[in-house]
Order: sequence, then structure tokens, then C-alpha cells
Amino acid sequence: MPRVRTLDDIGDGSLKGERVFLRADLNVPFSAPGRVADHTRIDATLPTIAELMARGARTVLASHLGRPGGTRVPGLSLGPVAVILSERLGTPIRLIDGEPGEVETRRAVDSIAPGGVAVLENTRYHPGETSNDAGLARAFGSLADGFVGDAFGMAHRAHASNVGAAKAIRDRGSPVVAGRLMARELHFLSETLREPRRPFVALMGGAKVSGKLGLIRTILSKVDRLLVGGAMANTFLSALGHEVGRSLVEESLVPDAAAILDEAGGKLLLPVDLAVATELDAAAEPVRVDRASVGVGMRIGDIGPRTGELYARELASARTVVWNGPMGIFELAPFAAGTARVAEALADAADSGAVVVLGGGDSASAAAAFGVAGRMTHVSTGGGASLDLLAGHELPGVSVLERGGGG
Ligand code: 3PG
Repeated sequence: MPRVRTLDDIGDGSLKGERVFLRADLNVPFSAPGRVADHTRIDATLPTIAELMARGARTVLASHLGRPGGTRVPGLSLGPVAVILSERLGTPIRLIDGEPGEVETRRAVDSIAPGGVAVLENTRYHPGETSNDAGLARAFGSLADGFVGDAFGMAHRAHASNVGAAKAIRDRGSPVVAGRLMARELHFLSETLREPRRPFVALMGGAKVSGKLGLIRTILSKVDRLLVGGAMANTFLSALGHEVGRSLVEESLVPDAAAILDEAGGKLLLPVDLAVATELDAAAEPVRVDRASVGVGMRIGDIGPRTGELYARELASARTVVWNGPMGIFELAPFAAGTARVAEALADAADSGAVVVLGGGDSASAAAAFGVAGRMTHVSTGGGASLDLLAGHELPGVSVLERGGGG
């Protein structure tokens, strides 16, 4: 049984006509003013919205967008998101723009019909949102008779519209539960990994070791293998005494990397070959070299083909896999091969029944770029939140949904 309460814990007919504050994470990227570049987070929230509609709730949907810093930044309005939601759900969805404590806002919320949905304007337009101001939290809470937490992507933050509003509603004795997306994220990023089917393999990459030391150690304590790529590997290669040329290395973390390698024994695998070039740009013509042969003037942009095959073999025998971070600068064609190879291997592993979970925004983008996202078991909508959860940290936006009133 999950530690959080979910929509299943609320009796079937009991949401009918009730005002429900649904905190989602609709913080989506824009390619141009008004044009949403990636709908993933909107689509991932649809099951919860559709269920609330079907159960006859009057849904007040709240989210932040970007970091407007407590003021009204017109380019960060949720208006375009409300338009997409209207299209997706086939019903007009109104944007309610106003202070949550004002009578007009209350009236607008009260006029939502049973089964209807309205979106509150960007929660971060309010100065008290990110400081979890008690007055703002109460004002949000006063707009509803129940709280559904679906904003997994920002669950590592304790803000007024997620933690504060949930507590205000709970303190009145009203229900506070996780939505379908939140429950799914917790299932795959936490419960499944608590007792994973083995071999359990983690694949980590991305630019930096900093900020991920705790994550690397936690992951190492759980997995049978940790495969490392991306610029993160450079710091480990440096710790092994290898020349990495002009590549990105976090010098101050080389001793930590050396300590982790010691602790890991043979569990941690590093690239055996690399794609290097003098400049990492779209016109580069990379050379594949052994990891012991990186020239002083070179920069590492990707893992090499032998490493790609080595990692693919490890992934093929895994029953559970967590992937965080690309193997190289996959956005540049000359350095995309390594990430493409592991993405394909992960998709094959998932096809053959392994549980394959992607956490962290870059891995999700990479899987989408190589057309394999749909073959993964679960692609998290969270960046920082998924990494915090994988590292075993408590997320305030999750604790507040726990049975027994955690948080
Ligand atoms: C995210 O996109 O990671 C979440 O929505 C949180 O956004 P934030 O980092 O601006 O708090």
C-alpha cells in the first residue's frame, strides 16, 4: 500500500459537486510567446483532471510557470496552457486571474459547474508563493473542499500552493490526497526501486558530479551496476589519473570521485573509449580514442562505440534500470551516438520486460529525441524532484500527502 493517500481513498460519489484544489506542475517550456514547446507535463496531468471531471468535482487547477519572482510577468501567464487543456479535454477551461483571497476569485471558483475545470493564473505571480506564506496558503485553501496533489515536478519545494494549501485544507478536516500522476511517479521512482528485480542497473550521465554526490552514493548502495557517462565521467577518469585534455572536469570533486570509486569496488563502470574533438560544436568531426589516449588539446563530447556496446550489454541483462543523464552532448549530431545507443538498449530492455525508469529532464528529452520515450516503463515529469526522490530525500510536497498527515 502506498504511503500517500490517493484518489482511491475518497469514496466514489463523495467528490460530486465539491470544489477540489488540484495542484499540478504545468511548468512547461515555451518556444515562442504563447507557444508551448513540450506538452508532456500537460498530458501527464490529464488522467487526474479527467477523473475529477468524471466524478463530478468542481476542479480549481493551480500551477506555477517559470520564475516570475512574485510579480506579473505577462510572458509567464498560464493562458496558453488553459487553451491547450480546453482542446485536450474538449471543454472550455477558463483562466481565473485575481488574488486568491478576493471575493471575485471566490465567486469565479464557486461558479465552476460540477464536472467543470478552471485554471488559476500562475501561482508565482503572488509574492508569498515561494516563501509558503501562511496567509496566501489559507487563501488558496479557502477556495476548495479538498486537495489533490499532482505536482510531482515541484514536490521538492514547500510552496504556498502545494504544501501550504494542502495543510490548510487538511487542518479543516477535508481530504488531502495524491493525484494519479503523483501516485505513478512515487510508484516507479520509489516503491519499485525499494525491492527491485535484479540485476538492478543505474545509468548516470550529464554534465556534473556536483549536486549528485549523495545521489551517486545512494544509488551505488542499491544497484548491482552503475554505468557512468557524460561529462560526469570526466571527473572520475581524472580521479583514475587519466588525461582528459580540455574537457569539463570538476577539479574540487576529484577526491570525492576517487573515494566513490574505492567504495564502489567493481560496481561502477566508466567509459573505456571516448569521442573527442578540439571543439564541441555541430561542425566537429570527432575521433574515437581509448580512454588512456585523450590528447591534451582534446575535449570529450561523448562515450565511444566500445563503451556504447559494453553498456548496452549490461542493460540487456538488467531487470530494473534507472537512467539519469545523457552520455554525451546528444543535442549536437557529432556527439549523439553514445546516448542514442544506450537509449535504444534501454528501450529493448523495457520491451523484453525490464522495468526502465527515466528520472531527470535531460534523459526524458534524450529519449524523446531518439523516439524511444514511449517504450520506457516510466518517464518522470520531474527533474530536481526525481533526483531528490532517488537520493532518498524527503519531498515536502509528498510528505503532506502521507497517511497520518505527514509534513
Ligand atoms: C521544474 O520544472 O523542475 C519544477 O516545475 C520546479 O520548478 P522550479 O525549479 O522553478 O522550482
